[in-house]
Amino acid sequence: MSDRLNNTISFEELLGFYSEAGVDTPLSDTPVDRFKQSAEIAKRLVAAANETTEQKQKTAVHRPPRPAPQPRISVEGQVATATELARNAKNLEELFEAVKSFNGCTLKLTAKNTCFADGTPNSNLMLVGEAPGREEDLQGIPFVGRSGMLLNRILGAIGLTRKEVYIANTIPWRPPGNRTPTPMETELCRPFIERQIELAAPKILVALGGPAMQVLTGVKNGIIRTRGKWLSHKLENGQSIPVMPTFHPAYLLRTPSQKKLAWADFLEIRNALNGLS
Ligand code: URA
Ligand code: URA
Repeated sequence: MSDRLNNTISFEELLGFYSEAGVDTPLSDTPVDRFKQSAEIAKRLVAAANETTEQKQKTAVHRPPRPAPQPRISVEGQVATATELARNAKNLEELFEAVKSFNGCTLKLTAKNTCFADGTPNSNLMLVGEAPGREEDLQGIPFVGRSGMLLNRILGAIGLTRKEVYIANTIPWRPPGNRTPTPMETELCRPFIERQIELAAPKILVALGGPAMQVLTGVKNGIIRTRGKWLSHKLENGQSIPVMPTFHPAYLLRTPSQKKLAWADFLEIRNALNGLS
């Protein structure tokens, strides 16, 4: 019969015939326990699955753990964090630690140091600049570069040394390439400089340049229009400290002709200091 089949139709044709007739399982003469067979298959599948889990666990030991996904915190959230850190600082040492622990301002990532302050915290006079430059960043001290050298001479002209006054910046980290700090960076750091002023409790503030003047007084005009006239800085408790806005030393280095105006401003500051005692 097989000879005849082989001669008449091909094997594929035969399978096609069976398939069309609804045959889907080949049977043999010996019975097959399909239940037992599928139980064994299931057992092998489970074993294989366990093996891969074990292998995965083994290899996972050598892999560094994945970092937990960083929650995205809003600018408002970061400002709230900065405000809380600043408020909780009971003295300037604690505030310095709080500033160093704050990771909400990305300027910290590129800065080498946190430039917090220089001089005497309880001085009657506190000077506030904008942000550290290269030299300040390297040393971690405000106003130690070329601007700082001029500031020392200006202070000397009214009979003061930098050791006798308190010096800080609105932003404690150097912006890359000395670029102007963004409004967002300024707002993130504002709680710290405000608390720093509160704790240092100077009788007179000097805002060095337009950005510092704007942070301290809230006045939006430029420094050319505002310099030389007393403004005020409001503390959280409602009291205020007089602020003398003047040119930034870096501006005076570029524009020496404006030094006579700065000189007038510092004479005004000298008079105000004399009036305190
Ligand atoms: N300019 C600033 O505003 N601050 C410094 O500390 C140095 C330069
Ligand atoms: N004294 C100076 O020599 N220059 C100034 O700008 C201010 C005071």
